[in-house]
Amino acid sequence: MISKSPPLRMCPAGWKLLAMLALVLVVMVWYSISREDRYIELFYFPIPEKKEPCLQGEAEMKASKLFGNYSRDQPIFLQLKDYFWVKTLSAYELPYGTKGSEDVLLRVLAITSYSIPESIQSLKCRRCVVVGNGHRLRNSSLGDAINKYDMVIRLNNAPVAGYEGDVGSKTTMRLFYPESAHFNPKVENNPDTLLVLVAFKAMDFHWIETILSDKKRVRKGFWKQPPLIWDVNPKQIRILNPFFMEIAADKLLRLPMQQPRKIKQKPTTGLLAITLALHLCDMVHIAGFGYPDAHNRKQTIHYYEQITLKSMVGSGHNVSQEALAIKRMLELGAVKNLTYF
Ligand SMILES: *[C@@H]1O[C@H](CO)[C@@H](O)[C@H](O)[C@H]1NC(C)=O
Ligand SMILES: *[C@@H]1O[C@H](CO)[C@@H](O)[C@H](O)[C@H]1NC(C)=O
Ligand SMILES: *[C@@H]1O[C@H](CO)[C@@H](O)[C@H](O)[C@H]1NC(C)=O
Ligand SMILES: *[C@@H]1O[C@H](CO)[C@@H](O)[C@H](O)[C@H]1NC(C)=O
Repeated sequence: MISKSPPLRMCPAGWKLLAMLALVLVVMVWYSISREDRYIELFYFPIPEKKEPCLQGEAEMKASKLFGNYSRDQPIFLQLKDYFWVKTLSAYELPYGTKGSEDVLLRVLAITSYSIPESIQSLKCRRCVVVGNGHRLRNSSLGDAINKYDMVIRLNNAPVAGYEGDVGSKTTMRLFYPESAHFNPKVENNPDTLLVLVAFKAMDFHWIETILSDKKRVRKGFWKQPPLIWDVNPKQIRILNPFFMEIAADKLLRLPMQQPRKIKQKPTTGLLAITLALHLCDMVHIAGFGYPDAHNRKQTIHYYEQITLKSMVGSGHNVSQEALAIKRMLELGAVKNLTYF
């Protein structure tokens, strides 16, 4: 027997629904004609923000002309395992190596960390900006542009609070040493900022140990009083591999590795940060680098404080030699400047 299907009939509710759909369609078409831009919003997914094209390995390739065959196997941060079973002793003392500081370093590495966050590790191509502390950042309005990079590397005690429009607010890493540590690290960093200790002397390891283990503070041996109480999460502390100081001094500034006690020249934290970025990132841009001319004695050098070039005398930094090194990196295309250099 052939069963007869019942005639297709719609209940009144069905007709109502159909009429509604038709109305919606008419409104949408009208909308799309009257407002071309709304049409895009309605029917397409938002267009992802245009970022600068990032070429994997580009920074490394260009930087190899400066650094030669330097080893990429070097860890960025010092790791406990390398000091627990001391395999290869460092050839140099601080700031270029860890010779003689192994014991205190072992205690520091036991309470800090060395991992690179997954959010950075997982990026196929890392766009980085190194934000120097230079006066040129004042009124630069670069804040939004700076915040867009995958990694924002800052230096020393450079503040962010109150300067967001010019320097941004994101801080992926901050390089510092005890005398340059900001007294209020919670205010000037993000909760996940890596606080990267650049050790110039063994006392710098002692300082971080006493802070993190709440041991008796040492006050002697610093050229400026570092914080005695420092509100940080030990998990955010990293110890920079002195290898980067070595190659910045050797390859960029051509400084002798063994210097007589009196001379002791060394790279600035800024030049060190660029060296690190060329190792860690695929694209390296710099902002706020450069000092005024040597004869310009009144010009302030930082965006946040009223000090002049005079304050650099006796610091062991040769700013004109560093300027030449940065010019060379710009010419090679290894780095790009966001502010005039
Ligand atoms: C790097 O090493 C290779 C092989 O050892 C050599 O052929 C090349 O010239 C070196 N490059 C530089 C820049 O030193
Ligand atoms: C920054 O801009 C403010 C307001 O326009 C101005 O008063 C100030 O002089 C500028 N500072 C510099 C260093 O250019
Ligand atoms: C700093 O570097 C410049 C350029 O390389 C050099 O001429 C000058 O003598 C250096 N100054 C010091 C104090 O070493
Ligand atoms: C970067 O520096 C060069 C000179 O070294 C300058 O010509 C150029 O205008 C600078 N770029 C920006 C964006 O300021």
